[in-house]
Amino acid sequence: MTLQQIYNLAIEMGIKADLRGAKSVERHMKRIKEKYVKLSKEEKAEFDEEKLKNPYSDTRVLCGDLNKQIKRIMVGIDVDAGELMVAKYLSDNPSAGSGREPIDLYISHHPTGKALASLDEVMHLQAEVLEKYGVPINIAESLLKIRISEVARGVAPINHNKAVMAAKNLGIALMCVHTPADNLVASYLKKIIEKEKPEFVGDLVDILKKIPEYSLAQKEAAGVKIFSGAKENHCGKIALTEITGGTEGSAKIYEKMANAGVGTVVGMHMSEEHKKEAEASHVNVVIAGHISSDSLGMNLFLDELEKKGIEIIPASGLIRVKRSK
Ligand SMILES: [Fe+2]
Repeated sequence: MTLQQIYNLAIEMGIKADLRGAKSVERHMKRIKEKYVKLSKEEKAEFDEEKLKNPYSDTRVLCGDLNKQIKRIMVGIDVDAGELMVAKYLSDNPSAGSGREPIDLYISHHPTGKALASLDEVMHLQAEVLEKYGVPINIAESLLKIRISEVARGVAPINHNKAVMAAKNLGIALMCVHTPADNLVASYLKKIIEKEKPEFVGDLVDILKKIPEYSLAQKEAAGVKIFSGAKENHCGKIALTEITGGTEGSAKIYEKMANAGVGTVVGMHMSEEHKKEAEASHVNVVIAGHISSDSLGMNLFLDELEKKGIEIIPASGLIRVKRSK
C-alpha cells in the first residue's frame, strides 16, 4: 500500500464507524465544500484543503511522500523524537531483532503537528452524537461551544511541530490517526453492548473486561473502573458519548443527559470535574481505560493493514491484539 492508500483507508473506516452515521458526515462535508466555494482568494489560500476530503481534523499525513510504498510501520499511541529514534535504530540495525526491511512510516494515534493544533474542530461531532441519545442539539451545541473554545486555547501554545520535525530530520514518514480509530472503538463497543444488553453496571463492567485489550490492561493496573455509581445500579440507557470526538466535552452535559434518559455513560477517561458533575446528576460512569481503548481502535484499523501485507511493530504503549484470521 502507498502512504496515500493507508491514509484514505483510515478516513474511510472512520466514516463507516462514525456514530453520527455516514450520511450525516456526508452532509457535513457538503456544507464545508459550499462554504469553501464562497471564500475569497485570500481565505482560500489559508484554508486547509484536506478538510474537503477528510472530516477529521486530528488525522493527517504530517510528512512523507504520499506515493511511497509502505511495508513496515511502527505504530504508537503517542509520538516523540524518542519513539522515532527507536524506529530509526531498528531500521539501521537489522540485528536488533526487527527484521531486514526498513521502517517506512510511524503512525501515532494521538495527534501531533497541525492535527493537534486543530483538535478542537473535531469536537463538533459530539453534539450530534449526544443528539442521538436524546439531548436536544441546541443544548449540546451551546454547551460544547464553550468547551471547544477552551480546548482551542489550550492547544494553541503547544510546540506542536517537534515530532514532525524530528520525523523529517530522520527521513521517516509520519501520520496520526485519532478520531477514525476512536470511532472504531465507539461503534465496536456499541455493537457489543446492544447485543449483550447489560442490566446492571456490574454486568457492563464484566462485558468490557472480556475484551482482550481491557483484560490485558487490567493486569497492568489500568483496567475498567466505575467512576460514578455502583455495580448494583441499573444501567438504564447506556451512552457511548465519551469515546470519540477529540477530547472531553462539557462537564455540564450530565444533567442534560440525565434529563434525556441516559443512565450510564461509557468513557475512555474522565477528569475529576466531570466525575463530580456526573455523580451529582445520578449518571453512572464506567471508564473503560484510556490507552487500552485507544489500542482497541488502532488494532481494528491495523488488522486491515496487516491483511494487505503490511508489517506492524507496536510501540509507545500500544497494546497490540490481532482479530484478523
Ligand atoms: Fe487517547
